[in-house]
Amino acid sequence: MASPLGLAPRRRCGSSRKALGPKSLGGSPSSSGGKPVQAHIPVMAEQVIRALNAGPEGGVFLDGTVGSGGHARLILEHSSPEGRLIGIDRDPDALDRARKNLSCFGDRVVLRRGNYADLGRILGEVGFFWVKGVLLDLGASYEQLTSAPRGFSLKGCGPLDMRFDPESPLTAHQIVNFWSEVELRDLFRSKGEEPYAGRIARAIVRARPIQTTQQLAELVVRTVPARRTRIHPATRVFQALRMEVNQELSNIRRGVEAAAQCLEPGGRLCVITYHSLEDRLVKSLMREKAASKECFGLPARKPILPSPEEVAQNPRARSAKLRVLERLMQPESKSQPP
Ligand SMILES: C[S@@+](CC[C@H](N)C(=O)[O-])C[C@H]1O[C@@H](n2cnc3c(N)ncnc32)[C@H](O)[C@@H]1O
Repeated sequence: MASPLGLAPRRRCGSSRKALGPKSLGGSPSSSGGKPVQAHIPVMAEQVIRALNAGPEGGVFLDGTVGSGGHARLILEHSSPEGRLIGIDRDPDALDRARKNLSCFGDRVVLRRGNYADLGRILGEVGFFWVKGVLLDLGASYEQLTSAPRGFSLKGCGPLDMRFDPESPLTAHQIVNFWSEVELRDLFRSKGEEPYAGRIARAIVRARPIQTTQQLAELVVRTVPARRTRIHPATRVFQALRMEVNQELSNIRRGVEAAAQCLEPGGRLCVITYHSLEDRLVKSLMREKAASKECFGLPARKPILPSPEEVAQNPRARSAKLRVLERLMQPESKSQPP
């Protein structure tokens, strides 16, 4: 039976032939008996598979943010039997989960710890040069966001950490406790688009030392006027800190360029963003590439959005946008998208 979006369902490793559904997308966490251990539901899975042209003809794919391997698993299933996948993540815990969840694909998968900004070098190290598709699913995973000790969570009480790579030098604690009021204000403005950036920066400097995510979240709640929105008042401050700690915008710049350079003709880069700063940057980088003398095009000028059904099942998909860049077959085939 064809799936609702016209994708042919493919054999899942270790199970019978099934269409994609919330459960097959990792909605049921489990930690024992060799079953998948992921709880993260891959966002816009069907749209990603289609945009990457992952099909039975195979090819080499690179997932630069492999996480628990949710998208990677689907790419491998759809590109079966020959498709290969290189998975990269900065977080060693995520790679452990991916290793478990993708073990049934054997040597069709290679996993490496690293930064997707270095994907050209990593690809060379594992013996590949060109790929048919690259996926960057930006931001943090469900497991990271809900693990208090990682310090990403607004709701738990953990250390102010927020590093994807636990060995990288800068933590949120250093920023919150040692940056000046002006530096904090500028950070919350530029990377959080926080309207009360100055007020929050002043309150932080007065309240220091601040040790936990809970202390910081409560301080922001006390500092800003109540807003009539469903998002937590400290969301933008946490976003700004996470982006700074992990140098997310500069990684996106380097990653999009590196990915574009390793696409084979007809190959595609898919980027899923979750907030406007990321999306604006990805949009402008892709448009620059498409407008340059290089041989790239945009299969769709507008971002691809999740369906209302997906958003109802997975609230994390609510803000997701998928953008696609394609390396064209021939320079003369370059044309403006509709
Ligand atoms: C949204 S999750 C990906 C989830 C994955 N698509 C799945 O379906 O399981 C994003 C992942 O990207 C990783 N990450 C963030 N920035 C990275 C970077 N610059 N290089 C490599 N991995 C990164 C995070 O550690 C996290 O595991």
